[in-house]
Amino acid sequence: MARKIIIDTDPGIDDAMALFYALDSPELDVVGLTTIFGNASTETCTLNALRLLEIAGRTDIPVAVGCDRPLAMPFQGGAAFVHGADGQGNVHLPLPQIKPISRHAAQFIIDTVMKAPGEVTLVAFAPLTNLAMALLLQPEIAHYIQEIVLMGGNAFVPGNATPTAEANIWNDPEAADIVFGADCPITMMGLDVTEKIYASSDVLDRIRTFDNPKAQHIARILEYYRMFYRERVGLNGIYIHDSTTITYLLAPALFKFVNYPVRVETVGYGRGKTWPALGRSENETAWQGRREIRIGIEVDAEKAIQLELERLAR
Ligand code: BDR
Ligand code: CA
Repeated sequence: MARKIIIDTDPGIDDAMALFYALDSPELDVVGLTTIFGNASTETCTLNALRLLEIAGRTDIPVAVGCDRPLAMPFQGGAAFVHGADGQGNVHLPLPQIKPISRHAAQFIIDTVMKAPGEVTLVAFAPLTNLAMALLLQPEIAHYIQEIVLMGGNAFVPGNATPTAEANIWNDPEAADIVFGADCPITMMGLDVTEKIYASSDVLDRIRTFDNPKAQHIARILEYYRMFYRERVGLNGIYIHDSTTITYLLAPALFKFVNYPVRVETVGYGRGKTWPALGRSENETAWQGRREIRIGIEVDAEKAIQLELERLAR
């Protein structure tokens, strides 16, 4: 039976890739999308989620709109320099025909988890505000979530939003700290592993040759993302961030993990840094009582890219 997942997303160029990858994978049953700010505002990201479902011909999947700002600070304004002002590489798609459902994303998560206890996995490609809200509104749902699989954080490597923090966590550190404290299995696919999955320009050019609307959209929006990597990062290719969660769900054996409880720094220069409880000391109180998080640290990148391309070609 296909594994039920809710995708929480801020589309976003790599979000679009990851969403289509999931939709092209029969092992996964995408039961809903919840939207959030991050790469752009929640409003823009919601329009993009609806547009992407139209491109994929999957307008049967409900979209629930999430929070429009982080728990404890204003929305930071998005990442137009990475994803375009429209979040989709400035290709300016027409308005979608379909609409979001009327329920809030956090309530949609709660209802969907409670309708099928133990069967629903939450997959986050974005800041964790909606997941934190669901856990705050109904803390007991943690016991009925099959797993949370999230793209975010950096355990042993530098950040990408600041020298210390990864973008999704940095966009709402307070929410992330709540989620990392949830009493359910959590797998973190952070920069430790996503920056090991480097798709070169040659690899990306292959997507253009795939004759289906999803791959054609990806090829189109990737132009902008590639420009960002070329001009700002100095790479002739991209890191595959959000899709790593999907690869993990499809082929966990491609990864190596370490397990630690994790706290998220919420003050000072380190705001947004994910801290695994590395040392053994009498002063571990801040991590005490937290479950160990499965942190991805190694990956067979070649196989990961091959699997994603295979699916996007469908
Ligand atoms: C994450 O930040 C966003 O810009 C991407 O969509 C991805 O979710 C990478 O740090
Ligand atoms: Ca994202």
